[in-house]
Amino acid sequence: MRICIVGAGYVGLVSAAVFADWGHHVVCIENDLQKVTRIQEGDLPVFEPGLPNLVKRNVQEGRLLFTADFTHGIQEQDLIMIAVGTPPGDNGHPNLTALWNVVKALKEYARSSMMVAIKSTVPIGTCDAVSRYLNADTEFRFDVVSTPEFLRQGTAIADFLSPDRMVIGCRTDSAKQILKKLFEPLECPVVFTDWQSAEMIKYAANVFLATKISYINTIANLCEEVGANIHQVALGIGLDHRIGPAFLKPGVGFGGSCLPKDTQAIVALGEANGVDVSLFREVLRLNHEQHMRVVKKLEKCLGGLEGKKIAVLGLAFKANTNDVREAPSLAIISRIVELGGQVIAYDPAADMEALRRLLDFIPAADPYEAVTGADAAVVLTEWEEFYGMDLQRVGDLMNNRLIIDGRNLFAPQVMSQYGFHYVPVGIPKQAPVFPITK
Ligand SMILES: NC(=O)c1ccc[n+]([C@@H]2O[C@H](COP(=O)([O-])OP(=O)(O)OC[C@H]3O[C@@H](n4cnc5c(N)ncnc54)[C@H](O)[C@@H]3O)[C@@H](O)[C@H]2O)c1
Repeated sequence: MRICIVGAGYVGLVSAAVFADWGHHVVCIENDLQKVTRIQEGDLPVFEPGLPNLVKRNVQEGRLLFTADFTHGIQEQDLIMIAVGTPPGDNGHPNLTALWNVVKALKEYARSSMMVAIKSTVPIGTCDAVSRYLNADTEFRFDVVSTPEFLRQGTAIADFLSPDRMVIGCRTDSAKQILKKLFEPLECPVVFTDWQSAEMIKYAANVFLATKISYINTIANLCEEVGANIHQVALGIGLDHRIGPAFLKPGVGFGGSCLPKDTQAIVALGEANGVDVSLFREVLRLNHEQHMRVVKKLEKCLGGLEGKKIAVLGLAFKANTNDVREAPSLAIISRIVELGGQVIAYDPAADMEALRRLLDFIPAADPYEAVTGADAAVVLTEWEEFYGMDLQRVGDLMNNRLIIDGRNLFAPQVMSQYGFHYVPVGIPKQAPVFPITK
């Protein structure tokens, strides 16, 4: 097939590289010329394990091309797939400017009929609106399809290659057949449905995951107070097949470019349609409180943050990505600084220079530089590099052996052997003594 992907971000780059690897001829259009140049030079704008080699191989073998030239890029393609960003906009609704810019350009420059798949996460009703717009007053036919994406950053290629399911919202049999053929290499159930249901599935799935995270974080916070251990509790509840073990890891709250934005979008959708979505509004509030809980633990242990030096280990919203969009680190660092603390931060992949334009912190070259002279260290991302730190060296470099671990990277017993005051999530320091009731 000849496929054109519009948008060379996390989703677009992975889709383009995998389709090319399956033997298709792929043109990836990116309107940021600097990004195109970087990609052509082999310097990808996103950090995703395995992606540089996959892109390089397919470019070298002539199946994958990057361009900023929209007019030529879209001609004579069997499929145009839109993977541009849909960032948070006003009042919780996503901002669809990039998507509509692409749709308008498609209508303006199309020289033949085409199939247009929307891979970006878009509000319910978007495919319908796009189809009506494209097919009004034109000699060509635009067959619009909804193909929401479920990959996770950090494991994007593996997720793309072995999804739990594919969801395809389409209206014509020809679209169904073409997509069936395209996704033939994947061995997973395929849900063929209407546009609106496909669009809703994407939001409903993300909001469920966000809710599950806020749920387990709340249980973990309770564990800290009543002497239960969240790891044991999560194991015990996760073995119930009605619940399942995934997404039962407590932490500092969710972040990234999807869960916060998609939960906000569902709240906005509910409000616009008179449906009570207070459950999801609460999920967002609890998530913010979970970020702030880290700061409260710091304040409690240090007796206030005025003049205190805090090492922050990890800025990306999760490990194996350089993405800091809506990362918990942003809210946590801002609050520490607001309370008079000074932050020295380290992350192996995040763009420190870009972040310093948004946040007040000193970047460190490695975790040891970050903790030097620190009154406390806070772990916010579960990077493998942190698991392997020389804890003796960390303790020796710190002003105070205090670690607030938002990711439960270490065993409490080991930390106490190294003399740390160690504060994980959902694991009490010691079991409380309850009054005897008869
Ligand atoms: N990142 C994820 O893990 C993930 C997972 C599933 C779904 N999604 C959804 O997929 C969509 C894309 O997400 P992303 O994280 O890849 O976004 P991104 O911001 O990383 O990438 C989008 C790219 O599109 C480019 N772009 C914008 N307008 C363009 C235009 N007119 N022509 C060509 N290129 C243009 C941008 O410059 C950018 O490089 C979003 O709707 C997101 O919600 C993301």
